[in-house]
Amino acid sequence: MKIIGINCSPRKGRTTQESLEICLKAVRNKAGGIETDIIEMADLYIRGCVGCGYCRNQLKCKQDDDFNSLIPVLSNEDVAGIIIATPVYLGMMTSQCKAFLDRTVVLARNGSLLRNKVGGVLAVGGVRNGGQELTIQAVQAAMLCHDMVCVGGGTKAAHFGAALVSDERKGVTCDEIGIETARDIGRRVADLAMSLNQDGKNSP
Ligand SMILES: Cc1cc2nc3c(=O)[nH]c(=O)nc-3n(C[C@H](O)[C@H](O)[C@H](O)COP(=O)(O)O)c2cc1C
Repeated sequence: MKIIGINCSPRKGRTTQESLEICLKAVRNKAGGIETDIIEMADLYIRGCVGCGYCRNQLKCKQDDDFNSLIPVLSNEDVAGIIIATPVYLGMMTSQCKAFLDRTVVLARNGSLLRNKVGGVLAVGGVRNGGQELTIQAVQAAMLCHDMVCVGGGTKAAHFGAALVSDERKGVTCDEIGIETARDIGRRVADLAMSLNQDGKNSP
């Protein structure tokens, strides 16, 4: 079983990646031997959906960029959960995140290939209340369009997902509460993925 983290920051190796790695470490620390992987949007060139309808009839996007290579990765039956991590840009997800999410429509149109995968969201902002919750809920809306099963962070510090605040110099290390919310999301995604997949398969 695998949980994939997707870093939607255009800046590789910075605060969103740092937060996502903390979150995925919490996944791996759960008993059950779940593997994790990170997809870096900064390594990929993915344009926005152009609404051409090509993917209504085939599991492929007409646009010749890096998105098609993600289709087998995301739809793999072994992938039980997806954690999307994004910086907050003007109170919202990054354009890289939105472009990626819009392009996943091909997976919904060709057999609901993300159905019942567990979804978690992590948002990192430069200020404490900079739009993390709104960003988390907007990403969750896309997950729900796929019939994914979204987890919240629990009752302790963040109800909707992992919400972190970064410092230009210190990264997210100074945000102890935010870091705990990243761990909470990792644990919740892992727990639910394991209980949904107890019999070894989770049919759509
Ligand atoms: C164009 C732009 C807009 C931003 N808007 C917000 C915002 O609305 N709220 C906020 O809290 N932080 C905002 N930030 C700060 C980033 O969310 C923050 O620095 C984050 O940690 C960046 O993630 P990264 O280090 O992984 O790239 C903005 C940064 C940029 C570049």
